[in-house]
Amino acid sequence: MTEPTLQGTVEVRSHLGPDDERTLADDVLDGLTRPLKELPPKHFYDARGSELFDAICELPEYYQTRTERLILQARAEEIVQRTGTVELVELGSGSATKTRVLLDAMAAAGTLARYVPVDVSATTVHAVAELFADEYPGLSVIGLVADFERHLKHLPAPAGPRLVPFLGGTIGNFPPGSRRRFLRSLRDAIGPHGHLLLGTDLVKDPRVVEAAYNDSAGVTAQFNLNVLHVVNRELGANFDVSAFEHVAFFDREREWIEMRLRASEPQHVRVEALDLEVAFAAREEMRTEISAKFTPQRLRGDLAAAGMELVEMFTDPDGLFAVSLARIA
Ligand SMILES: C[S@@+](CC[C@H](N)C(=O)[O-])C[C@H]1O[C@@H](n2cnc3c(N)ncnc32)[C@H](O)[C@@H]1O
Repeated sequence: MTEPTLQGTVEVRSHLGPDDERTLADDVLDGLTRPLKELPPKHFYDARGSELFDAICELPEYYQTRTERLILQARAEEIVQRTGTVELVELGSGSATKTRVLLDAMAAAGTLARYVPVDVSATTVHAVAELFADEYPGLSVIGLVADFERHLKHLPAPAGPRLVPFLGGTIGNFPPGSRRRFLRSLRDAIGPHGHLLLGTDLVKDPRVVEAAYNDSAGVTAQFNLNVLHVVNRELGANFDVSAFEHVAFFDREREWIEMRLRASEPQHVRVEALDLEVAFAAREEMRTEISAKFTPQRLRGDLAAAGMELVEMFTDPDGLFAVSLARIA
């Protein structure tokens, strides 16, 4: 079934409400009471966290964003031609700076009808929806402030062949089993005539990867620590943020980056909203993100396990990053 698009309209729908503070509360309760404490990365992205992520994308050490943009610039026309896409449904769209490359290619091909950014960060969804509706005359924009793990059933029906960009290597934040389950959950969103456009960071010299997550300006450290500010504000916790330090290392066996926060001294934290007391020992670490790096085999395996097939994997001359086109097998 297709849904007629209204030309040149902009609308933002929010699927995050009071229940979602519950999600943070559940994640904090679950994560802080585990033997190895852990918080899921989606809670980094309040307005400040989204700004810090944008600053990370501009860092000299952070090769991912500029490399992915170069690949898109080289391949967007071909991607649009091969898929015949009329709409982008972008998952974890953030400030969508690279998305313009795809929208421009669709506009040049005369197929551009609709853009649907999906992100938990309300500020970025509103900003991008307004900006793109202004910049692309006639474009219909439906922004969804939503969790892509729970709210994809609220996507509008396809307006025609659909492309689902999931860029920035965000897929790498899922551990392997959940990653495959999540990819499988995208099948309905992509549809039988649609394609997934997946950005993945590639396995490479660990020194290059580690430098990207330990930048000399300390922006990644601020981004990592921001999750403690989020928990303090949203759940009435009293983390002493200055007593935690940023840690990021490449796990060579699992081939993923692991970000952690290390308590520099023993600390007792109270989380008022949960009536929870948590103790951190000196030098105890809490995991805040994994970022898996891919090989072509890993990507093919994950797609196959999700009932999808790789159409083409585009990469840069140095093999740093990949943008892959996939469809339902
Ligand atoms: C690594 S950033 C990538 C941003 C952008 N796509 C890029 O390539 O620069 C991850 C984005 O996904 C969003 N995000 C993370 N978890 C999410 C979730 N469960 N549901 C929706 N958005 C999520 C974040 O708010 C953030 O904007």
